[in-house]
Amino acid sequence: MSDTLSDIRARYACRAFSDQPVPAATLHTIAEAGLHAPSAVNRQPWRVIAVTNRDAIAALETAGLAALKATDATMYERIQGRGGKLLYNAQAIIVVAEEPLDGPFPAALDVGIVASHVALAATSLGVNCVIAALPGFAFSGPDGPALRDLFHFPEGYRFGISILLGYAAGAPGTPHEIDLAKLIEIA
Ligand SMILES: Cc1cc2nc3c(=O)[nH]c(=O)nc-3n(C[C@H](O)[C@H](O)[C@H](O)COP(=O)(O)O)c2cc1C
Repeated sequence: MSDTLSDIRARYACRAFSDQPVPAATLHTIAEAGLHAPSAVNRQPWRVIAVTNRDAIAALETAGLAALKATDATMYERIQGRGGKLLYNAQAIIVVAEEPLDGPFPAALDVGIVASHVALAATSLGVNCVIAALPGFAFSGPDGPALRDLFHFPEGYRFGISILLGYAAGAPGTPHEIDLAKLIEIA
């Protein structure tokens, strides 16, 4: 395990995973880190769904690509240009299902913090990842109801975010350059 600041600096969006599986205990630890996320009024408006089942992952890949093609041709072409895999051969996926709470504390904020916890926990354990919203198209397409069942969404919950996990195929990527012009310090 490494220290938090190093993990924050080292994390990058991995878009090509090898066939090496993520050990069950490692995935459990990563998923549990998501549950430690803070949430407004401690509502915890989420389910953290950790998936290694190959059939479920394949179903998400197929439904997601089909839904993307039907609704966002530009993004679909972008994925095709990156090798045509929506899930990049991820060996494990954490889907965060979101309780539909809007208003002053939208659940999406809480879900985003879960994603960050998961991504940093993965990095600290040497697991690569990418936070991914595009797989969400699968849940609003024609296969949505079946997928929500397959992924055990509670009634009324919607797709919040996903984190694709595995070990990088080939050379690891590099973190993005930070833009210090976006930092405002008022002393
Ligand atoms: C909310 C959110 C949704 C994202 N969705 C996708 C996605 O669907 N597919 C993808 O390849 N990357 C996705 N990304 C990854 C971003 O493109 C990536 O984080 C960004 O380009 C910065 O690169 P870095 O993560 O390497 O720092 C998403 C990131 C965030 C935070």
